[in-house]
Amino acid sequence: MECSGQVTPRLLMAVGTAVIGSLQFGYNTGVINAPQNIIEGFYNETWSSRFSEPIPQSTLTALWSLSVAIFSVGGMCGSFSVSLFVNRFGRKNSMLMANVLAFIAAAFMGFSKLAASFEMLIIGRFIVGLYSGLSTGFVPIYVEEISPTSIRGALGTLHQLGVVIGILMAQIFGIDSLMGNATLWPLLLAFTVLPALLQCVLLPLCPESPRYLLINCKEESKARSVLVELRGTEEVSEDMQEMKEESQQMMREKKVTIPELFRSPMYRQPIFVAIMLQLSQQLSGINAVFYYSTGIFERAGVPQPVYATIGAGVVNTAFTVVSLFVVERVGRRPLHLAGLMGMAISAVLLTIAMALLDQLKWMSYVSIVAIFSFVAFFEIGPGPIPWFIVAELFSQGPRPAAIAVAGFSNWSANFLVGMCFPYVEQLCGPYVFIIFTVLLLGFFTFTYFKVPETKGRSFDEIAAGFRKSAGQGADKYSAPEEFNTLRGDDPDL
Ligand code: GLC
Repeated sequence: MECSGQVTPRLLMAVGTAVIGSLQFGYNTGVINAPQNIIEGFYNETWSSRFSEPIPQSTLTALWSLSVAIFSVGGMCGSFSVSLFVNRFGRKNSMLMANVLAFIAAAFMGFSKLAASFEMLIIGRFIVGLYSGLSTGFVPIYVEEISPTSIRGALGTLHQLGVVIGILMAQIFGIDSLMGNATLWPLLLAFTVLPALLQCVLLPLCPESPRYLLINCKEESKARSVLVELRGTEEVSEDMQEMKEESQQMMREKKVTIPELFRSPMYRQPIFVAIMLQLSQQLSGINAVFYYSTGIFERAGVPQPVYATIGAGVVNTAFTVVSLFVVERVGRRPLHLAGLMGMAISAVLLTIAMALLDQLKWMSYVSIVAIFSFVAFFEIGPGPIPWFIVAELFSQGPRPAAIAVAGFSNWSANFLVGMCFPYVEQLCGPYVFIIFTVLLLGFFTFTYFKVPETKGRSFDEIAAGFRKSAGQGADKYSAPEEFNTLRGDDPDL
């Protein structure tokens, strides 16, 4: 047992290689923000040379929104297809195969200028969205399945750390003097090919998930030897035993399809919790900041908005690291709750700052503080936790289908915020963040009453908790009784 929480070089290498996929997702989330004007210039030139007239403003706006948002449409399609891959090809090979999409997307985006085709850029954004959608399923599944129970949350947070480092890299590379200029922007977009190459080199050196080998492929001796490698000890009987119990449990269950998740009383509660957690992440308004921060800072009177945006990226990364170190000590629930409440308070502060800006010039500094703390609280809980907790809420059988549903909900809400924020902002002016405050308070209440703690429990124990409450005829969605006890005992609440 003592060795079961050990971070071995082999484990770190496997997790590190997997989260290159998360970095790609983050990079492509952030990359389109800074060079907007320059790429719009390219759209205009291309249009003029084709039709001998400048592009109408409304067409340009529509083409630009499409270029931004089609990434999330790709993400929705990709995340929904996760279960088709992971069960058939395994976790590791699925990640490897997905890189084909990153190569194709990089080629489309990188050569779009040469080919004078904005269509190629838009197609490339869709394809890299497909890749990112797949990654948001593949990475958490793989990382959670190879991690020892006692550090599963910390390693799960590395997925989000990959995302935020990707966003930060994109913000920095997008500076004018680096690649965010009229000559180099195609390289900025095609950069995504390098992490893809690196992952293709490293993945073959990583092991397949031992849970997949044992539970899905029935390859017990292979699973054991992978576990020995990952844990750095011959003493893996406890892990093996736990996986076998899960396997037996799974044989008693039917194959779990997506509709089954909603039909069976056993899964209905955890899938509802999983979807709500994803919605709490996206409808918190975080991507209003990451897609549009430069504009928000500009309107708040900040003199160097691009640098303030990079500041937000730095705060984002720093607080993900904080979460990484505290998640196993404090637990998922308290961090998620603290994060949602902190974001709600920051959103109120931001609204006050924006509303008083005309009377008090120094309110622009308050708005920077408010946005930074909004982002910091996001990364304490609502950023990392929803991504990995879904894998914890389900056992091996329903896990891929559940991840697909959760990912799809996440990406759909991402799309909604990305598309609607500019319009709603025009309508509500400085009061736009009040909408997120109301949503955040709603998600806080939901989390308080319905989300169980999963820290330190095996997948099988967590699933058993839900089974028990389903068995008690709980058609109502309440946290399983044993989780409630845990919640009551938690001094951190
Ligand atoms: C999460 C969200 C993503 C967001 C990022 C910000 O990973 O899923 O949409 O851009 O956090 O750090």
